Amino acid sequence: MMKNKIRSLGHAAFEITTTKGTRILIDPWITGNPACPFKVGELDQPDLLLVSHDHHDHYGSDIPNLLNKGQGTLICQPEVAAKAQKDGVPAAKIITMNIGGTVEVKGVKVTMTQAVHSSASGTPCGYIVTLEDGKTVYHAGDTGIFASMKLFAEIYGIDVALLPIGGVFVMDPLQAAAALTLLQPKTVIPMHYRTFPVLEQTADKFIALAKEKAPQVEIKALQPGEAMEF
Ligand code: NI
Ligand code: MN
Repeated sequence: MMKNKIRSLGHAAFEITTTKGTRILIDPWITGNPACPFKVGELDQPDLLLVSHDHHDHYGSDIPNLLNKGQGTLICQPEVAAKAQKDGVPAAKIITMNIGGTVEVKGVKVTMTQAVHSSASGTPCGYIVTLEDGKTVYHAGDTGIFASMKLFAEIYGIDVALLPIGGVFVMDPLQAAAALTLLQPKTVIPMHYRTFPVLEQTADKFIALAKEKAPQVEIKALQPGEAMEF
C-alpha cells in the first residue's frame, strides 16, 4: 500500500508527498539554509506551499522560484501574501486564510493554527494538514508552548507533529516534551535546532525528556534530507 512520505529539508522546512502524489512544502527555507542539503532547482514544484511567518528562516527567498514553473499555490495570511506579491508571486497563485480557518485544495485540508511568536507581516501561525487519506500533520511553526495545543488533539487527532525544540526563539526541549502530553501525536519530528549556534545542537535532551513525559510517542529525529513514511 502506498504511504504518505515526509522529508526533512533542514531547520523547519519539510516536504510532504501524499499517497495521491500531492506535494506540500512547508516553510521552504532552501537557499542560505546551512542545514538544507538541496538546491532550490533540485526540488520538485509543490502543489501547496505553506508559510508560517515572514522570518527569513521560514519565508526564505525561494518562494517565487518554487512557484514559477508549476501549478503550485501559496497558502498564507493576507499580510504575508502582500509581501509575497511584492516579491513576485502572482495573486492568482495565492490563497489567503487566517487562524481557525480551513481551506481544501486538491483534496488536502489545510487548517491554520495560532503560534506564539513574532513577525513583521501578519501574525505567526502553524498548520494542521489533513491529507487525502485522513492522516494529519501538525507543523507548529515557531512558537512557545500553549495549553490549547490540547484542543488540536481533541478536534483533529495528530498523527505526526513537527515541533521546534531548539530554544531561545522557540520551545526548548522541556516545553516541547510537555507539548507532547497536550498534542498526543503518534509520532513527533523535532525541528528548529542545530541550525544556529545559539540553538540546541542535538535532539538528545528532547528525546530523553520526551521518553520520560510521553513514552507512547514515537520520536523520529530526521536528518536533513531524510524521510519517513506514515
Ligand atoms: Ni521566527
Ligand atoms: Mn525560526
